[in-house]
Amino acid sequence: MRTKYLYMNTIGCQMNVYDSDQIARCLKSLHYEMTPSLERADLIIVNTCAIRKKAEQKVFSFLGRLAGLKRKRPDLIIAVGGCVAQQEGAKILQRLPHLDLVFGTHAIDRLPDAVQTIAAKKCRIVDIQMADQIKEPDFIANGCDGKHVTRFVTIMQGCDNYCTYCVVPYVRGRESSRRPENIIQEIRQFVDSGVREVTLLGQNVNSYGKKENLCTFVELLRRINDIESLLRIRFTTSHPKDLSPELILAFNDLDKLCHHIHLPIQSGSNRVLKMMNRKYTREIYLEKIEKLRNICPRIAVTTDIIVGFPGETRTDFEKTLELMRTVEFDGLFAFQYSDRPNAAAVGLPGRISEQEKKERLQEVLDLQDYFTTRKNKALKGSIQTVLVEGLSKKQNRVNYSDKSHRLQWTGRTSTNKIVNFFESDGVDGGDKIMMGRLVDVKISKAFSHSLWGKTDSKEPTDVGLRGEKSYVT
Ligand code: 5AD
Ligand code: SF4
Repeated sequence: MRTKYLYMNTIGCQMNVYDSDQIARCLKSLHYEMTPSLERADLIIVNTCAIRKKAEQKVFSFLGRLAGLKRKRPDLIIAVGGCVAQQEGAKILQRLPHLDLVFGTHAIDRLPDAVQTIAAKKCRIVDIQMADQIKEPDFIANGCDGKHVTRFVTIMQGCDNYCTYCVVPYVRGRESSRRPENIIQEIRQFVDSGVREVTLLGQNVNSYGKKENLCTFVELLRRINDIESLLRIRFTTSHPKDLSPELILAFNDLDKLCHHIHLPIQSGSNRVLKMMNRKYTREIYLEKIEKLRNICPRIAVTTDIIVGFPGETRTDFEKTLELMRTVEFDGLFAFQYSDRPNAAAVGLPGRISEQEKKERLQEVLDLQDYFTTRKNKALKGSIQTVLVEGLSKKQNRVNYSDKSHRLQWTGRTSTNKIVNFFESDGVDGGDKIMMGRLVDVKISKAFSHSLWGKTDSKEPTDVGLRGEKSYVT
């Protein structure tokens, strides 16, 4: 069978990145290889995100641009998957006549069949299950391509929390957890192919396994911590209402668990948090941050903030700014509120104008920029242990004044800060030597979104995370 080419456009969250990997692996059985070229592709898949209106607009603008390609090459198959597909279903086929396939968030394992049927019968297919009918088949992924140091691993799907602004429960279905043995097996396969760090994904990892009576999230972390040759574990996202004392303690107990937590606050106003159905107050949130910092003083904390939720007054908004000043987050994602289909907030009074939302967003970003830059600058002169992920994108090779060439590498600290660096001795060891290793980097420059430095020793040091250095010299 001749090799065919798959172009994939992944829009949205890390879960979509994971799903896109699954899609690519699934389609290997039909001899599809990935291509970065739209013109060369036999199959184009857009894996979509519906979480905010902007992401959805991006999906439709990209899909619209594919009409010309389809006219030129009628055999080209164009498919839409993910949350927008789940949300809109057959309506997308009506809206865009050049599309061949719409598949929902729970139809990945049936994708090869659908693609074959379309190729053979020149038909159009919609494969969507309604959220409340979805029974998640637990899957075991089969390895990875050996080119990655870090990988996402979805440990649970869906969400039962119904925050009033959120579309996730409607497009990803009810919460369901994968079996721990399947997760461990998948991670072992990743590790065998060179992966050294995994990020466990779920909408609310703290409720992992509860419904199905599997093990707890912390027990799962313990089992993953025991996997040999795995160096680091991350997870996202934790819901503040469910962040348990056991999980807080795990930041001290588990040597591979990275010193970073993403804990979305959404708003600093208790009134708004109530309208959002978040089920915690700013006081509870602050208490949990304090406990986390007591257990693990260097832990980095990041968050999500929504501005302009219906009914958010200037006083409410200022409470968010005040909370940011109290916590001093390491980083955050901030969003202007947008109405999402089915979400309860759509009906709430007190709409905030687009101009006002834009201005509030800018205020949040400006304030955060101050804290991020200040925190990064404080790391100048320190030695940070970095897991090398590969060559830095911006600048693979730099000419030194002595005319020797040096490779610039990129990786992250345990606290999830990006570090770009040169090897101090300038030996081009090639990526085989550096990738996937923990190296000590002396930080000499700090920017708002990254750090820069040189390796502190000749040889990469494969120290365990307990031995990570982060002292200021
Ligand atoms: N409008 C704006 N932001 C939203 N988010 C989720 N739904 C909406 C919405 N309707 C944000 C939240 C969430 C992040 C993934 O996206 O901050 O934590
Ligand atoms: Fe959406 Fe809330 Fe569930 Fe997060 S916890 S996915 S914001 S409903």
